[in-house]
Amino acid sequence: MQETETKPDLVDFDHHSLAFAADPFGTAAKLREVRHVRSEEHGGFVVAARYEDVHRTALDAATYTNGRDTEDPIKLGVQLPPSEAAGNIPEESDAPYHTAYRRAMAPYFTTRAAKASEARLQHWTDVCLDEVVEKGTFDVVTEMTGPIAFLFFCEMLGLPVEEWRRWYEPLHELQTTTPNTPEQRAAIDAERENGAVMEQYVRDRREQPQDDLISRLAEARGPDGELFTVAEVAAMSRIIILGAVDSVGSLVSQAVNYLADHPDEADRMVAEPEYMDSAIEEFLRYFSPGVTTMRTVGLPTTFGPHPLAPGARMMIMWLAANHDPEVFEDPDELVLDRAPNKHVAFGAGVHKCIGLHYARMEARVFLKELLTRMRGYEVVPEGTEPLKTIGLFTGFHTLQIRFTPGERVQDDRMPGRIAA
Ligand code: HEM
Repeated sequence: MQETETKPDLVDFDHHSLAFAADPFGTAAKLREVRHVRSEEHGGFVVAARYEDVHRTALDAATYTNGRDTEDPIKLGVQLPPSEAAGNIPEESDAPYHTAYRRAMAPYFTTRAAKASEARLQHWTDVCLDEVVEKGTFDVVTEMTGPIAFLFFCEMLGLPVEEWRRWYEPLHELQTTTPNTPEQRAAIDAERENGAVMEQYVRDRREQPQDDLISRLAEARGPDGELFTVAEVAAMSRIIILGAVDSVGSLVSQAVNYLADHPDEADRMVAEPEYMDSAIEEFLRYFSPGVTTMRTVGLPTTFGPHPLAPGARMMIMWLAANHDPEVFEDPDELVLDRAPNKHVAFGAGVHKCIGLHYARMEARVFLKELLTRMRGYEVVPEGTEPLKTIGLFTGFHTLQIRFTPGERVQDDRMPGRIAA
């Protein structure tokens, strides 16, 4: 057999390129059409773009593993920060460790657990919106979605809320800048320092447990019945704020941008809770905040007619699956009451997003408050900058809005330094 018959078609595709950021849906359509493609970027990878291929790959965790097989995640096209000893847990782990990590985290990520914390989310939403409501203008990404998510999850973990920026800033930079740029290298260095700080919090909680999530994870045990190591607990704690940093911000900022031009739909979302819920699912599908995830082939397999050897890298493109016309009618249209809507924005299989109940709750609370308190807002183009790389997340670096100033609804002030 000739070599060209045994390798997927080579395409000029880099998920961190400006070309992809400029036309994600068009690029995804080409990848789906050719179907069995490979790119030579970031060390080389093949791409699962059709819904069917994405779903099958995500469900087959034995063949397509998440474990990291190199010290250089950037080279592999994965932007997640390396946690010195323990990797990104549970994301970059496989059974039986992955099962044990998920089991330890699961009780705090149920629908019920999310619901029980809604009052605290509402509190931080009120605090952050009070900080900007009298100004009549603010940046949705850095003054609303980022701070609220961090204040909320820092409090849940037991980290001092005044220090939310120390966790937010490097993670936000890391996930929204292009690999191998000075900005991203600086963010990685800051992130490494934060890893050591988190490990110290874990040691402290082991000595003096508190009523917080770090203490609960510090008491959990692995598959061998032993306590998880300090590095493992620190990695699980960090991935919670990592998951929080830009995912919901991506979703909400893009929804806010769209709804500025569709005020009737915004009003209907506020008036009808069911319409709000279906609109959030459609924003998840359409914008696909988490664009891609990587896997490493663990067992010999095939991609269509092409053999894949262990070690080969496979990109799962959630965004392309969510726009597959085989599954979604008019996939590039936003239909806010779309039903059914079997999107894979939260992934599929054993690594499916553990934070999805929080994500949906955040989106609902953020949008309801913003659409109510800043009703009739408009987007300020000069304060708005789309992300230059959407390799990990779609959306905005900044999204400035303007509205008629309103009044505060409570007295608490924002903890920590305020953005200029
Ligand atoms: C709109 C918001 C969100 C989207 C679109 C999203 C998307 C995803 C996707 C696609 C995956 C699967 C990755 C894979 O298959 O390898 C995932 C996993 C994960 N997400 Fe989310 N996520 C969101 C919010 C959150 C939040 C708020 C948290 C934390 C509180 C979080 C924590 C995680 C964690 C820890 C994993 C790894 C799960 C595992 O490996 O078992 N996510 N997310």
